[in-house]
Amino acid sequence: MVEDIRTVVAAAPLFSPLTPWGKPMSVRMTSAGRYGWYSDRKGYRYAERHPEGGDWPPIPAQVLAIWHRLVGTARDPDCCLVNVYGEAARMGLHQDRDEADFSWPVLSISLGDDARFRIGGTERGGRTESVWLRSGDVLILGGAARLAYHGVDRIAPGTSMLLPGSGRINLTLRVVD
Ligand code: SIN
Ligand code: FE2
Repeated sequence: MVEDIRTVVAAAPLFSPLTPWGKPMSVRMTSAGRYGWYSDRKGYRYAERHPEGGDWPPIPAQVLAIWHRLVGTARDPDCCLVNVYGEAARMGLHQDRDEADFSWPVLSISLGDDARFRIGGTERGGRTESVWLRSGDVLILGGAARLAYHGVDRIAPGTSMLLPGSGRINLTLRVVD
């Protein structure tokens, strides 16, 4: 799967999106699928093209196979967001709510170093708890948890030997429209 992600990144280079407040995110990103997730001063959204203009590459078959097994074959995800975490990268608490239909779950795959994932309820500022996600873990936000606030406090560099050096890749599959 890491080889497949390298192919995606070769076709659609990683970039650091700006938050709507103009700050570059510490996580580098790209996408595969019909849509890619994108952010800049105009806000969070899905884009039909990479910021440099090309189409997003197809979602790798092995990645789709996990969706088929755990979510089903009725509908394929439109987007596979590729998040690349360096040693100091983190992701603030947020909801995934740029999609049109929240009845489809969000499926995420962790590869590489362990990450302390934080999850709360559907209200900002509510109680949260954390769990370490390890390489190969698959997490589904669905049903009552579809709009749960979540984020990544930190990664633990060097806890996995999957990627050269250290780092973490998270793949997030979502139905968009
Ligand atoms: C995300 O919420 O976009 C990423 C979550 C993760 O990296 O595990
Ligand atoms: Fe998210």
